[in-house]
Amino acid sequence: MSFRPPKGTDDILPPDSRQWRRVLGTFEELAERYGYDLAITPLFEATEVFERGVGEGTDVVQKEMYTFEDKGGRSITLRPEATASMMRAYLDSGSQIPMKLAYSGPMFRYERPQAGRRRQFWQVGVEYLGEDSAEADVEVIDLGYRFYNAIGLGGLEVQVNTLGDAESRVAYRAILVEYLTSIADQLSEDSQRRITTNPLRVFDSKEDGDKLIGAPSPVDYLSDDARRHYEQVQAGLDRLRIPYVQKPRLVRGLDYYTRTVFEYVATGLDTAQNAVGGGGRYDGLAEVLGGRPTPAVGFSLGIDRIILALGEPAAGDRTVLDAFVVVADDERWRQGFELVAELRSAGLRADIDLGRRSVKAQFKSADRRKAAAALVVGEEWEDGEVTAKQLESGIEERVKAEQIVAWVAAVRG
Ligand code: HAM
Repeated sequence: MSFRPPKGTDDILPPDSRQWRRVLGTFEELAERYGYDLAITPLFEATEVFERGVGEGTDVVQKEMYTFEDKGGRSITLRPEATASMMRAYLDSGSQIPMKLAYSGPMFRYERPQAGRRRQFWQVGVEYLGEDSAEADVEVIDLGYRFYNAIGLGGLEVQVNTLGDAESRVAYRAILVEYLTSIADQLSEDSQRRITTNPLRVFDSKEDGDKLIGAPSPVDYLSDDARRHYEQVQAGLDRLRIPYVQKPRLVRGLDYYTRTVFEYVATGLDTAQNAVGGGGRYDGLAEVLGGRPTPAVGFSLGIDRIILALGEPAAGDRTVLDAFVVVADDERWRQGFELVAELRSAGLRADIDLGRRSVKAQFKSADRRKAAAALVVGEEWEDGEVTAKQLESGIEERVKAEQIVAWVAAVRG
């Protein structure tokens, strides 16, 4: 059999996985700092969660879902995204107070695979459920922005827009349908069909993008309330000094959005996959799922694309171990194991060759494993010392056993 993973999926192994670990760890730490608790929901759901939640008219539901019947005859879908699941779980919990959730995991979409467009891909995200304040939109956008800064992603653009509330949507829809009908003969069949079924989705069309330059924008048809909300979001972003650009034609590809929508764009990537994250407010989703009215806002960030945009691993991703213990005297393996245990207990990253190979082979492992230092346990152990070597510079010295932990902690940088 072939050892290749299925089309459009990847094995993420060392050394590449080191950068993944750093990026995912940074997100977890930051989400916790902003008060978002961990949420874990099933990787599959009843198909209607997405049909109703994401919307029947979207590309995701029409073309990209992994849907199958399970042995009990239920229609099941591997989650193409997590927002609908998070809202379902919140409604199921019966909570009456706002909930701030963070998640991290694989999503599944049957797409045409290319770099940054995978059939299994990883998202991290937050959802602020049960809160209608514009300050929640600001907090969420800010958290995403700080995350990209923390991992060192350059060339990031924050794009924002508003789709308005239910009232503004009715006014806008009528104007949009009128406009699209006037240029219908220039549009693809798919777009022509959407004029009547779901006109906002015409903006998702890859072929027709250029023809929509003159289309009306939702920002010109906002109710007073929706306009005020959008102004508060912008004021909040200004206050936090988050640079953003307004994109009047940004509508996002999922049906649940109301009011604020935003995207994070990595300007260094090809336009086909330069959206490294996106989100918005979805005040109507709970009711579409059959629940009580629940305002909410959130984002999801695409880790596969973020790793692509980061390019070569940063220096911090290179050292993987603080110390590798090298046993130079066959009689002293027990001391070697004890030393490795002591380093690990002290919170340091340490390893040893369990195959008890030659000294040369052990040094090779230390290099390959990107250890900052090698600690040689040999005859010098008689004097209560090890030979400690910094692998990058080659500097070598004798260190007293009781000072080893402090020495490693100092050289690991
Ligand atoms: P989305 O825009 O569909 O939104 O996906 C968010 C991010 O996931 C994209 O910006 C992209 O980086 C990444 N992504 C999407 N599809 C793929 C793929 N096939 N391969 C690689 N990366 C991909 C959502 O999923 C919403 N749940 C966001 C949200 C949360 N809205 C409110 N709360």
